[in-house]
Amino acid sequence: RRQEDAPPPPVGGLAGLRQEAAGCTRCALHCQATQTVFGEGPERAAIMIVGEQPGDQEDLAGRPFVGPAGQVFDTVAAEVGLDRAAAYVTNAVKHFKFEPRGKRRIHQKPDAGEIQACRWWLTRELDLVSPRLVVAMGKTALFALTGKDGRLADQRGRIMDWQAGRSLLVTVHPSYLLRLPDRRQQAEETARFRDDLALARRWRE
Ligand code: URA
Repeated sequence: RRQEDAPPPPVGGLAGLRQEAAGCTRCALHCQATQTVFGEGPERAAIMIVGEQPGDQEDLAGRPFVGPAGQVFDTVAAEVGLDRAAAYVTNAVKHFKFEPRGKRRIHQKPDAGEIQACRWWLTRELDLVSPRLVVAMGKTALFALTGKDGRLADQRGRIMDWQAGRSLLVTVHPSYLLRLPDRRQQAEETARFRDDLALARRWRE
């Protein structure tokens, strides 16, 4: 059921929604970011992948998951035969939040208000794409989708019934894998991430 504050989906479908989102001023993040990084993929994808927010490279390119985290995702997805091009890939928050430090732009976590403001777009993407499986990568995605702020580990790695006719799979965010300092732990955690994506790949085969 649609949220009470939600108008009907835009007439122009996903393309119309993307155009609307390009001018989004629903929170302050648009002031600093280069552009809105909207989701991409087929209008009726069976699987929707949800990340946190665009990073430095995504902000410049205007596309989700094209930087280092995106490379991890692409590599592991390819390993299990999950076709990224057949999925709809998006983020909970559509503007890059960062702190300038010299020439670098350091990623900052979006806060609950920013996630809530951006849920406006995520909800419409869900309505329009109408995926049957949503993969939440990381805590921000999980919170944006469900409003729950619990431990990822409690929900991770199984396909759960979520909304009517729609399932949810929770996994870690690929940038978590990049941050792990220990090589062995990185290998183990990447294997678990691979198992999770394999579950999505095999789902309703
Ligand atoms: N991290 C995300 O959550 N999304 C992106 O698009 C890139 C990095």
